[in-house]
Amino acid sequence: MDKLIVRGGRRLSGELCVSGAKNSALPILCATLLADQPITLSNVPHLHDVTTMIELLGSLGADVMIDDEMNVQVHGESIANHRAPYELVKTMRASFCVLGPLLARHGEAEVSLPGGCAIGPRPVDQHLKGLAAMGAEIEVVDGYVRARSGGRLEGARILMDISTVGGTENLMMAATLARGTTILENCAREPEVVDLGDCLLAMGARISGHGTDTIQIEGVERLNGCNYRVMPDRVETGTYLIAAAATGGRIRVSETRPETLESVLLKLTEAGAVIDQGDDYVALDMQGRRPKAVDIRTAPYPGFPTDMQAQFLALNAVAEGTSRVVETIFENRFMHVQEINRLGADIVLDGNTTAIVKGRPRLRGAQVMATDLRASFSLVVAGLVADGTTIIDRIYHIDRGYERIEEKLGQIGADVERVVSR
Ligand code: UD1
Repeated sequence: MDKLIVRGGRRLSGELCVSGAKNSALPILCATLLADQPITLSNVPHLHDVTTMIELLGSLGADVMIDDEMNVQVHGESIANHRAPYELVKTMRASFCVLGPLLARHGEAEVSLPGGCAIGPRPVDQHLKGLAAMGAEIEVVDGYVRARSGGRLEGARILMDISTVGGTENLMMAATLARGTTILENCAREPEVVDLGDCLLAMGARISGHGTDTIQIEGVERLNGCNYRVMPDRVETGTYLIAAAATGGRIRVSETRPETLESVLLKLTEAGAVIDQGDDYVALDMQGRRPKAVDIRTAPYPGFPTDMQAQFLALNAVAEGTSRVVETIFENRFMHVQEINRLGADIVLDGNTTAIVKGRPRLRGAQVMATDLRASFSLVVAGLVADGTTIIDRIYHIDRGYERIEEKLGQIGADVERVVSR
């Protein structure tokens, strides 16, 4: 298994470009199943999760072509198989979002219950409840969801009990080809939901209200092909900003969308960063200072994203003062705490939703293990600020969500090396 060697103690400084958003690209790739014409996507990040999704689309019978610049063309006309197997769905929860499109276009689908990061139980009850309200017959047999509509789904009014990103996306996609109007209430408002909605509009869907908590979809009989550019990755943007801030450095992140990151930029400002932003860039300067401790409470968008909790917690570990980090989205998302503590941090868990972080002026490099995707990057942040060498094992987690991590970190002055073991 590959390892990442981080030699810490350097102040990050420089400029980098952000990749396309993983969490947009994945549901948008699922949406290609809804059309009978080719869809060409640009700004698709070159990531392990994207490769898994492309493999899944291929296994369903879609024709997928990828050029040198990662423009991905998917032609879903020839789809003959409606079963998404455990082997492909277990590694990545987002693949469960093929359920809505397959069912909507083919009247039947069989999709394995999902896996993904080990960050709590993560059920799919809201996805299933919504599809049932649209007239699907659903049963769960041997770890697979079997859904049938015997024709077109029916538009419905659906109130989701919680804000779920994947649930909103799955139902929004299913409703595009349903007969009649669907109203989804208590929707997730994440920018990636908006991006998917915009792509569906480009495919000829009739959707309004995406980005608010009520989305209205008037079903159409078919969707067409289109060219669509995936939005920039706000989590990647925020992650590099946090990394630079933790080291007291300065960085300019371009090809991004600062308006999707407001809560994170506010917290970075609270931590002492001077931030300048334009239409497509964010520049951060800590002016060599140690960050100040900042309380964090994760919440659905536009609140502080759970996907940046671990990275900010690592910043707090070296900040001046004590902070409270509260996770409200997932039940078990503090597995990075014991690993960061191996570097000499002082983080104590209070139950499984709150971490109390006493900032330490210095950390010391150690051997640690990546536990999930975003948590892995928190170990990189901790390693960057620590004296000496940190060796991060199981970095395949990082490769699921961060493109060319060594190269990008190198560009901003980090001393990071991948050791490939066979
Ligand atoms: C997406 C993101 C993930 C991010 C998360 C929250 C993608 C590919 N992944 O995941 O990076 O961390 O949003 O912003 O976009 N839940 C239920 N029942 C359901 C669905 C969800 O109880 O039917 C719960 C989950 O267990 C979790 C919470 O709702 O506690 C939020 O989950 P959800 O928004 O669905 O996350 P994902 O779409 O899986």
